[in-house]
Amino acid sequence: MRNRILCAVALSATLATSQTTLNVVAAPGTATFAPGVTGNAWLFNGTLPGSTLRVTQGQTLRVRFRNDLPESTALHWHGQPVPLGMDGVPGVSRPAVAPGQEFVYELTNLIPGTHWYHPHGHAMQLDMGLAGLVIVDPANPADDPPYDVEQVVVLDEWSNPLGGFYTGHLLNGKSSDGQIPIAVQPGQRLRLRILNASAVTNYVLALDGHPMTVTHTDGGRVQPVVVQALPIGIGERYDVIVDCNNPGVWSLAAAAITNRSVTLVRGVLRYAGQTQAPPPANFVPPNLSSGALLSYAQLAAYFPVPPISPAPRHRFTATFAMSMGPGGMVHTINGQSWPNVTPFQVALGDVVELTMVNTAASLVQGLHPMHTHGHSFRLLNTAGGTTQPPVKDTILIRSSGQPGSTAVVQLVMDNPGLWLFHCHNEDHMASGMITAFEYLGDTDADGIADGVDHEPTTAVPVTEISDMAADFAPGASGDVSVQWTAGQLVDLFAGLSELSTPLVFPPYGTLVLDPSSAAFFGGAWANASHRAIVSYAIPNDVGLIGLRIAFQSVGLTALPGGFRLGTAQALTIR
Ligand code: C2O
Ligand code: CU
Repeated sequence: MRNRILCAVALSATLATSQTTLNVVAAPGTATFAPGVTGNAWLFNGTLPGSTLRVTQGQTLRVRFRNDLPESTALHWHGQPVPLGMDGVPGVSRPAVAPGQEFVYELTNLIPGTHWYHPHGHAMQLDMGLAGLVIVDPANPADDPPYDVEQVVVLDEWSNPLGGFYTGHLLNGKSSDGQIPIAVQPGQRLRLRILNASAVTNYVLALDGHPMTVTHTDGGRVQPVVVQALPIGIGERYDVIVDCNNPGVWSLAAAAITNRSVTLVRGVLRYAGQTQAPPPANFVPPNLSSGALLSYAQLAAYFPVPPISPAPRHRFTATFAMSMGPGGMVHTINGQSWPNVTPFQVALGDVVELTMVNTAASLVQGLHPMHTHGHSFRLLNTAGGTTQPPVKDTILIRSSGQPGSTAVVQLVMDNPGLWLFHCHNEDHMASGMITAFEYLGDTDADGIADGVDHEPTTAVPVTEISDMAADFAPGASGDVSVQWTAGQLVDLFAGLSELSTPLVFPPYGTLVLDPSSAAFFGGAWANASHRAIVSYAIPNDVGLIGLRIAFQSVGLTALPGGFRLGTAQALTIR
């Protein structure tokens, strides 16, 4: 009887829209910084930086993620307004993925531009090499500025958390000695997609002998601004176009924003036919040390954006401070440290104006690259005025007393859930510099408040497994926990195979489990905390290691139709 429900809905299903499925595996590996210079690292798909995930606007990106690290982790899609359940923040959007287990991220509403993915779990994972680009090409290629060649530039520092001999800064995963020159022909337009993926360093980047024309910030296109040097806070992205009209072999050099007279790492731009040796690694291009820096005030959006509202629904202030606590340095927003914070409370559709104020005067420790999850913001007091404000998701707030120590932004609250707003400096984040926006209300009317609902916009049961490796070993027992409306019955189905293309049939949900091989596994009523718990026990037989069992839940509901298909989640016996 229960199986017949799954089969019947499968017959009426429609095919999902255009999607791309990509695999990402996080695992320990070895990074080669330069010939003969290696270090232990944690890597996505074996490379540093991790493989670039590239799709076209309008597509759904499914990322099959497997965690082969010795600890749990999750993937955050920095700059993308994904649904909360996919945001990759353990404890906020879902549990983390246990070692040896998998999770499929379904990324919809992807916005064009240069974005990135990285873990959001234990503070130092990003520092061990886990970062990669997400590039979304515009559906209409004419939305991009014209260019001939393209190169990613991922800046990072390597502080040796896992052992190995190299300590220093990296450009595309290599030290200055390991650089593969960027090859261009005279007359070409070179597009650089630049990301600062470092844990604690805010950089300045400059290309000797060439100005750069800024075309995008944080993925969003801006009116072109010609600059000599580009400040780039942790988590920020800039796309620039270089007119390659100065043949030679040139240094693409990065310095710390706090000391522009020392080159920390440099790449090389080599014109065809130019055979001379690259500039020395410690060469400081004049524009790096003293070229005029891009200022946020110069930016204006290129495409139409919602204008700045003269009457936002809320005006919030976020004041940043640091102090010495009993356990060391504490970073606070409005006097609070994560997780003991009072989120900014909002409702769907609200316009929020957020004023950031930095009270920390230390030139090095007082820099705060602030990032909003699930939402971009429009930046006030720029060349874009109130009608064409630039759109960003990360902004570098300078030390108190310096220009840029405050900023005013507006957000349209259009993505229900609980969303972090935090400093992207890993040390500051680890010592509390995180708060959140919490949506009040229950957008999908499933009885679970948006701020705690792991799928706040779709009324579906959310099927979750443990983030502990020990729960998946032969002889272990554990729980499949389904988040669903308190008091409603949840049935859990199990099978050995999933459909290669999930079948979507509104409003019942998406069928992922192959109904021909699925069987009823167990049922439970969701408790007052919206949890239906179905326990399992794994036979103590090492022959089972590697066996993968897929689960999908079906929850009864008072909503039209009477039931909803839950999300699917596999577990693998390890
Ligand atoms: Cu790059 Cu909370 O994110
Ligand atoms: Cu900070």
